[in-house]
Amino acid sequence: EPGPDDEGANASTIPELRAAAEGCRRCPLWRDATQTVFGEGPEKAKVVFVGEQPGDQEDLAGKPFVGPAGKMLDAVLAEAEVDRSEVYVTNGVKHFKFEPRGKRRIHAKPNAGEVKACRWWVDKELAILKPTLAVALGATAAQSLLGKTVPITKMRGQVVEREDGLRVFLTIHPSYILRIPEPADKEAERGRFLADMRA
Ligand code: URA
Ligand code: SF4
Repeated sequence: EPGPDDEGANASTIPELRAAAEGCRRCPLWRDATQTVFGEGPEKAKVVFVGEQPGDQEDLAGKPFVGPAGKMLDAVLAEAEVDRSEVYVTNGVKHFKFEPRGKRRIHAKPNAGEVKACRWWVDKELAILKPTLAVALGATAAQSLLGKTVPITKMRGQVVEREDGLRVFLTIHPSYILRIPEPADKEAERGRFLADMRA
């Protein structure tokens, strides 16, 4: 049941756009997920944070970055004195992609086609918000914002300007910090992420 190709095209506010995205069928990810997890934050936000895709908890809550990665993001933003309620937070892909493993749902990386399909929504969010800066949290976000793959570990901390003038700040995804097993390495990476958020 494909939706209209111009779904949400006439939306002029984030709530209108969010409502249009509820029925999105532009890629297959809507089938197994609970709901579209749209971006959240004030329409006057000057900075837009873009993550990868909702995780298990976001899929159930219908809100971005409320699970473990979101807690890490919140803690580091607070330490950097960035008020999360003043920024807009969204994802490059708006449905949860996972592999079932017993009772658990294990995160699966969205492919290039899914990222491309969902750029429709990211582009519309950016067109409404007109932020002065977008922050790409990790490789998928960078791929969504820049339309190509970029080496994040090499380019993190840098700003790339798009053809339309939007400045995109590149950094890692907060879940990357959570996956580092060695405590000292984890703390060091958290420190680098904090420096990025301060910048
Ligand atoms: N990871 C993301 O990239 N986005 C979320 O909303 C949650 C976890
Ligand atoms: Fe639509 Fe994005 Fe969901 Fe795919 S992931 S169905 S493009 S909202």
